[in-house]
Amino acid sequence: SGPATVSPTGQATGTPQEKMAQAGSFLTTAHGARLKDSDHSLRAGERGPTLLQDHHFREKISHFDHERIPERVVHARGAGAHGVFRGYGTAARISQAGLFAKDQETEVFVRFSTVLGSRGSADLARDTRGFATKFYTDEGTWDLVGNNMPVFFIQDAIKFPDIIHAGKPHPDREIPQAQSAHDTFWDFVSLHTEAQHHTIWNMSDRGIPRSFRMMEGFGIHTFRLIAADGSTVLVKFHWKPRLGVHSVIWEEALATNGADPDFHRRDLADAIEAGAHPEWELGVQVFEDTEDQMFAGIDLLDPTKIVPEELVPVEPIGRMTLNRNPSNFFAETEQVAFNPNNLIPGIDVTNDPLLQGRLFSYLDTQITRLGGPNWNQLPINRPHAEVNDMLRDGMHQTAVHSGVAPYRPNSLDGGNPFETPDGSRPFIDHPAPVPASVKERALAATFDDHFSQARLFYRSLTEVEREHTAQAYTFELGKCFEQNIRERQLRNLGAIDPALAQAVADGLGLPVPEPAEAPADVEPSPALSQLGRTWPLD
Ligand code: HEM
Repeated sequence: SGPATVSPTGQATGTPQEKMAQAGSFLTTAHGARLKDSDHSLRAGERGPTLLQDHHFREKISHFDHERIPERVVHARGAGAHGVFRGYGTAARISQAGLFAKDQETEVFVRFSTVLGSRGSADLARDTRGFATKFYTDEGTWDLVGNNMPVFFIQDAIKFPDIIHAGKPHPDREIPQAQSAHDTFWDFVSLHTEAQHHTIWNMSDRGIPRSFRMMEGFGIHTFRLIAADGSTVLVKFHWKPRLGVHSVIWEEALATNGADPDFHRRDLADAIEAGAHPEWELGVQVFEDTEDQMFAGIDLLDPTKIVPEELVPVEPIGRMTLNRNPSNFFAETEQVAFNPNNLIPGIDVTNDPLLQGRLFSYLDTQITRLGGPNWNQLPINRPHAEVNDMLRDGMHQTAVHSGVAPYRPNSLDGGNPFETPDGSRPFIDHPAPVPASVKERALAATFDDHFSQARLFYRSLTEVEREHTAQAYTFELGKCFEQNIRERQLRNLGAIDPALAQAVADGLGLPVPEPAEAPADVEPSPALSQLGRTWPLD
């Protein structure tokens, strides 16, 4: 809402919301009483102690004392922007979701982030970037909570606290760049070899993007789309930036972090303000929804694997333009709550064990981060669809519900919320096969290959990108204190590519140990290396 109007007496007028808008020609307390002075506390005499009786002093200081909310447990550092998504109509045959219809416009809010740094950390850290999009559709809100890399470190969500504890600053000094923090990260990824694929993306130039505007985005997991006739396909979501994919080199990242730690958020806000609105095309790789959910020997439920675009091209289904900066960082970028549970009719999850765990974690963490269960009422999180839920009360409830208690079936207040008038569509959890054995802690053997796609990625890089990647491993492993961790990681690099292991061992001044396993035999995948690639539509 715009600034409140002000009456001739200086009183802010309009709706209760506008009256709270911190406008008008005089200050008041939070309960609306006019104040004469906010610069001096009430004292017993000019030089005496401050009086507990000073309500305005206590209110002002106490509210300030509680201004901060906990930062996100991961992805704490971020920048957001508003925009619009326009469907091309090309996905209308595979999903009933209305936002994919031709020329349908849907408002969006996007938050880009780093994963490991705290809220005040520098933008150009070597890290994965979050790329989370909230689509405010009129059928409910859909959140596509992705990253700028197409794979993840772990296959099962139960490992998430382990990888994050290993990667975050060490508990004693809380210094991210302390030797001990490198030891814990490299200890984890060298022992937990499914992390090798994501890690090589981090060590490549992808780990230090030039700009949020020049990053790809990936939904990573395989999702299920449901068409109007009930037929289903499996898809992987891709965002392709109009400006192509660009990175900085390590020396530029170091210098930039020193000179302008806000480089990425400034770049995004400046570009939008100048009218250079960043754009991405949303595309899908489409797979048949077979019972085994495999494609060309790749388990589609394994989030450490990609499907090369040479095998299954990305089909464009819509375009997103970011065209408006937030007007209040806290109210929008900080209070936004993304959640992979936010699905709409036509889009559903699969059994990917990483995605399944995420369905619990976001909802759970936001109860702490946003102070109770009512964060959907915060302006940035409010659905643009009509809401008629059965939720009541709780911390920070702002709705004033009327009528009888919300329970169903209910013969007292008449309405049946399960009716879907005017052909509107309900969300249906799509029936999917469940394996015969009920209790299993082990993952399927189809999740076992940890190295071949890391090699596929390495071999798709240009010579100079390979050099940067080897230099990044050398720099990072050079910070490790424990020799056996370096050697273990070198054995893993040997299983990815002997030339990579040799280059890093030379950089570290160590001999090359035997590889962890014989390097896989894979064809290079040119489409993986997209640096400088132009937008598919141009
Ligand atoms: C936050 C992506 C896996 C737990 C985020 C954010 C992104 C993201 C982009 C920041 C959202 C924002 O800007 O507010 C991903 C991706 C994953 C993944 C792409 C894997 C494919 C996981 C897993 C867990 C997890 C496995 C836990 C089991 C969290 C939590 C937050 C978060 C707790 C903070 C949410 C908040 O405070 O609002 N994730 N994540 N993530 N993620 Fe993930």
